[in-house]
Amino acid sequence: MTHSISEMRENPTHSDPGTWAPFFPCRLSGGIQAEETSIATVREFFQRHFKEIYAASIAEGGFSPLPESWAEKEGFYSRHADLFRFHDEGRTVGVYVGNALDWSTYYLRHVSFLPSHQGQGHFQEFFARFLEALAARGMERAQAHVSPANLANIHILTKLGFTVTGYELSERWGANVCLTKFLTQRSLEAFLKQFCWGTKPQLQH
Ligand SMILES: CC(C)(COP(=O)(O)OP(=O)(O)OC[C@H]1O[C@@H](n2cnc3c(N)ncnc32)[C@H](O)[C@@H]1OP(=O)(O)O)[C@@H](O)C(=O)NCCC(=O)NCCS
Repeated sequence: MTHSISEMRENPTHSDPGTWAPFFPCRLSGGIQAEETSIATVREFFQRHFKEIYAASIAEGGFSPLPESWAEKEGFYSRHADLFRFHDEGRTVGVYVGNALDWSTYYLRHVSFLPSHQGQGHFQEFFARFLEALAARGMERAQAHVSPANLANIHILTKLGFTVTGYELSERWGANVCLTKFLTQRSLEAFLKQFCWGTKPQLQH
């Protein structure tokens, strides 16, 4: 079972204004704004731009030998996920989808920007703020699965303090590196103490 942060509040809906206050909505550098959004906006963004954003992967034959329908995905997203859009004077230039896996673990599920808006620091800026929001809501850790080929995403996550915590091979997505950002000192120390030998730069920040 997974939940959006909204669901985990007592009586929430996605349209609750203030679910993410005081962190979102917010203005990022370059005049881009990040705000919670609807499933319709996310659907429209994917329908219009998926091919453009993932052209290289599509040319290689797509992501998965087991294609999954948008209808199933949409049902999950609308019931369980937190949905954000990035807009440039009203035009959606990127979307972000995440969900809680349990009461203390949050999952970065998807993020994509239009090619014209990639590489300008927007995701780093947004996600640093999003992690602060998760910590403020008592989340203990944030997790992500990233293709070993996606150097940009791995770079961003390690820069934001994520630690490699595993590796996964699945029939859906192939190989993925699992990365975790520990949002509390106690969970960070527990992981490093139990599983890691050697230098621990994470403890120096
Ligand atoms: C991955 C993605 C979400 C990152 O968002 P973004 O706003 O472009 O990222 P930022 O501009 O904040 O940061 C990019 C960083 O990656 C680095 N980078 C870019 N290409 C890189 C590469 N090939 N190897 C290593 N690092 C790379 C940049 O130098 C920058 O780091 P720096 O600030 O330390 O110099 C965006 O590029 C995107 O939408 N990509 C296509 C969809 C995708 O891959 N989504 C993730 C899988 S769900």
